[in-house]
Amino acid sequence: MELIARIKQNACRLNKKIVLPEGAEPRTLEAANEVIGEGIAEIILIGKPEKIEAMAVEMNLDNISDAVIIDPDNHEKIDHYIDMMVEIRKSKGLKREEAANLIKNPLYLSVLMIKNGDADGEVAGAANSTGDVLRPAFQYIKTAPGISVVSGAFIMIHPDKSFGDNGVIVFADGAVHPDPTDFQLAEIAVATARTTKSILGIEPRVAMISFSTKGSAKHPMVEKVINATRIAKEMAPDIEIDGELQVDAALIEAISLSKAPGSPIAGKANVMVFPSLDVGNVAYKLVQRLGKAEAVGPVLQGMAAPVNDLSRGCSVSDIVSLIAITSIQAEAGD
Ligand code: ACO
Repeated sequence: MELIARIKQNACRLNKKIVLPEGAEPRTLEAANEVIGEGIAEIILIGKPEKIEAMAVEMNLDNISDAVIIDPDNHEKIDHYIDMMVEIRKSKGLKREEAANLIKNPLYLSVLMIKNGDADGEVAGAANSTGDVLRPAFQYIKTAPGISVVSGAFIMIHPDKSFGDNGVIVFADGAVHPDPTDFQLAEIAVATARTTKSILGIEPRVAMISFSTKGSAKHPMVEKVINATRIAKEMAPDIEIDGELQVDAALIEAISLSKAPGSPIAGKANVMVFPSLDVGNVAYKLVQRLGKAEAVGPVLQGMAAPVNDLSRGCSVSDIVSLIAITSIQAEAGD
């Protein structure tokens, strides 16, 4: 079965409640209709009920009648959420009036719903920037225990099935954290391995990518990757991880034999962790555009509950896939 179809099928069994703060955004509404129709998740839409209901009629989206619609200006739990906000941000000096103002923003309301157990995960970003989607999540949901940094993984599906796992390779970080320290890079590697296992059901083989393979170059940037590899192995001895490796040594068996003989990962990596966001973001877009791979994501990892950010150019099917992935993350706890 095709990968995305399998992910959707797995999500169907979980019945997770996914909140969509951009409830009146047309692609989001169409995706919600499809998700409800296929039984992928339960949907909570935030927006003015009369507007969403009128759009659903106009767009022939019959399943929207099964969504829960939350009016951000008239929700019974608002006062409780404001109390929670003031408590969570008391070290930052958040005042009640400021919280009351922030909660009017559906992107804040969504994360408070998740924090209070009223939703399992969130998908947003069709109409908002990455920063605006992520900031509320960073501030109120925060990172998972043992993780200090959120990062974004891309599931790359390449037409050449000889790469990775039947053409599937997971790239990180391609979306969030511009310049990780060696410790943060190790966390990103461990989080990406866990994402690979929980969402794709495949055993991760993690390559820590550099412009050097096993000491071929000396530079502080190479040192960072060597340190991150050591730290990641200490953090998660159960995960197969190796570095530092160049992309060709990580992916191609014949090259790995000369550049990294004896490496358990070289030549067969299915996860590639890049040294910075600069490299990770450029790499995924090159592979997508010039290499004609499909890029699914970013799948945000390391948060205490899943919040996923869409590109503003996303399609309806991108939103449906990300809702399914969010449900699986909510179940897996990563
Ligand atoms: N993980 C966890 N928490 C974080 C992270 C992170 N990676 N980054 C910031 N935070 C926390 C901070 O600790 C802070 O928490 P606090 O308020 O409790 O102290 C809060 O989030 C805000 O921190 P700022 O440093 O003020 O972060 P800011 O909001 O300015 O920026 C952002 C965060 C927007 C994610 C920034 O890192 C960014 O712009 N990253 C790049 C995003 C991007 O443009 N990606 C490429 C495009 S996406 C694509 O191509 C698909």
